[in-house]
Amino acid sequence: MERFKFFIITLGCQMNKNDSERLAALLLSLGMEEAKTEKEADLVIINSCSVRESAESRVGGLVNSLTRLRLQRPRLIIGVTGCLPGRDKQGLLRRKMPQANLFFSSSEMGRLPGMLAEFFPGLKTNTFSFSDYLKIQPRYDSEYRAFVTIQTGCSQFCTYCVVPQARGLTKQRPLIDILTEIRDLDNRGYKEIVLLGQIVNQYQAPDPENFSVYNPFQQDDFARLLWEVNQLKSIERVHWTAPHPRYLTDETIVALTLPKQVNYLHLPVQAGNNEVLRRMNRGYTREEYLQLVLKIKQTRPGLALGTDIIVGFSGETEQQFEDTVSLYQQCDFDIAYLAKYSPRPGTAAARAWADDVSWDEKKRRWRLLQDLMEKTTYQKNQQYVGQIKTVLVDKYQNGQNLGQSEEQKLVSFVSDQSLVGKMVRVRIKEAAEWILRGTVV
Ligand code: 5AD
Ligand code: SF4
Repeated sequence: MERFKFFIITLGCQMNKNDSERLAALLLSLGMEEAKTEKEADLVIINSCSVRESAESRVGGLVNSLTRLRLQRPRLIIGVTGCLPGRDKQGLLRRKMPQANLFFSSSEMGRLPGMLAEFFPGLKTNTFSFSDYLKIQPRYDSEYRAFVTIQTGCSQFCTYCVVPQARGLTKQRPLIDILTEIRDLDNRGYKEIVLLGQIVNQYQAPDPENFSVYNPFQQDDFARLLWEVNQLKSIERVHWTAPHPRYLTDETIVALTLPKQVNYLHLPVQAGNNEVLRRMNRGYTREEYLQLVLKIKQTRPGLALGTDIIVGFSGETEQQFEDTVSLYQQCDFDIAYLAKYSPRPGTAAARAWADDVSWDEKKRRWRLLQDLMEKTTYQKNQQYVGQIKTVLVDKYQNGQNLGQSEEQKLVSFVSDQSLVGKMVRVRIKEAAEWILRGTVV
């Protein structure tokens, strides 16, 4: 029988990458094969992102280019999944891409086999009928680092953010499923796991009786989960993203000192001015955030800190932006993902306020912070010169190995292919903004 081939294009965040790994597992279980490029695929699915308008435009562009590919492969089936179909409650976006044969949100993934039957006769169709798509075991992209989703959706409703519409309200994954997945990864020799959730530190186990240790002094299920992961044998690194400052408890801050915790924390701040934070509905003040950072740095000195910042939010004045700049300097971040505000349909901010900071001004603010970041990071990275860093090696290309340090910094050194997927000790000889270069110890 003919084996149909699929190809998945993933845009956006790590959650999407993990969803694509589930999608791949689902399609493989139906008897399909994974194609190397979209050119040889019978089915191409775009796993979309909606967080900014530019991300959505890319989806439109990709659908158009796949439609051109269909001129050569008339039976090509095009699918769109992820956040864009998720937020399209009225079907307006669906109407803009009639060329797509399939259009479904991530949580509707379990229905895919039924939808595919129409296009691919002979596929095994009845293997999956999950209403809960998290029950599908991912086909992990990597053999040493795995994403583990512990919750989906978000109920925080930051006023700029489309995620609650696109992915629904927060749903916690059963602890037993999480523990089964990570123990299996541990037995398979995985080195690093990345726990994923929109507010990952707000994890609450629906089935807390499955924690292996009962500690009456621990109240925070996320901290308990971190303790649990630290009991594993083969997994050496634990990383989690993204926490919300408002829900970061003392217990979780203490858990930053656990042995497997990477030396990095991503803690989105979004803005440094209280009025802007209030209008974003972030639920904390500048002072509270700074206090939290101080506590973190005292608890684990040397921890690298990352953040997300939005510039040019509705009504953000020059003075208010300056507060973000000064907060950046005070926190001494190692990295920041800087975004220019993009109003999202259906969000409270888009309904309530005009997008009144001009594009040029957004670009100027973005550039200013970007320059500050590059300067700060370059200076901070000099401290690593002469130090030995443990690196999880990701690839070997053009005669160079590249991997990530505990601080999630990119490290390069010269060795060979055999080190990919291994933990290697590297002495740092030279540091630039975005790369540390060294030699194997
Ligand atoms: N405009 C610009 N950036 C946004 N983000 C989320 N929504 C928007 C928006 N409407 C950014 C935030 C978030 C990151 C994933 O994307 O900084 O942390
Ligand atoms: Fe969006 Fe805020 Fe939820 Fe993060 S916490 S996903 S920014 S609504």
